Amino acid sequence: MIFNLSSQNTIANQFISELRDKDIQLDRGKFRKNMKRLGQLMAYEISKKLDFKEQLVQGPLAASNIPLLAQHPVLLTVLRAGLPYLDGFLDYFDRSDCGFIGAYREEGSDEILIHLDYVAVPVVNERIVILVDPMLATGKSIIRSVETLLKRGQPSHIFIAALVAAPEGIHYIKENLNVPFSIYTCAIDENLNDQFYIVPGLGDAGDLSFGLKM
Ligand code: URA
Repeated sequence: MIFNLSSQNTIANQFISELRDKDIQLDRGKFRKNMKRLGQLMAYEISKKLDFKEQLVQGPLAASNIPLLAQHPVLLTVLRAGLPYLDGFLDYFDRSDCGFIGAYREEGSDEILIHLDYVAVPVVNERIVILVDPMLATGKSIIRSVETLLKRGQPSHIFIAALVAAPEGIHYIKENLNVPFSIYTCAIDENLNDQFYIVPGLGDAGDLSFGLKM
């Protein structure tokens, strides 16, 4: 299942347009804030698919039965670009366990090579995982991250939460992911360029959030 937030016209369009605008991008704080706002909206959208269980809540005047999350999803992000987007998810899923994977692309080769060098994940067995990775470009870092995760346990479902997705990445995930999953994204763009960046995309989400790396 693929959910695309831009298939309806909502206030999210403003946040996405500000993320793409090369002049507004100069304001790094605003860039991170828009990522976070979209993380909040996406957390809300994904919450509609989770299981809820009625719980009795005792108020000052009377008690009420309120359906609440039956299980808090595990949030997993890919460093470093995922951090501002994760922040938005954490605003809503504020009881979730979080995991972090450090993944980087080897620049300068014709093929994209993904290296993982830091992995800190909670127990994921039979739990719902939301994999927060804003730029779904080739899909290779997501597949490498999930392979790493599966060595530690078998999640019941993985929600892949992108912000911008390329058709090539969506196709790669559909071909290579062997666990129940859904893809949630705020936009599906045209394609990848020859450096594997999403076009029109928004540029390098990590650099725009935190500055150029050496
Ligand atoms: N990562 C980014 O930050 N941007 C892209 O376009 C692709 C991957």
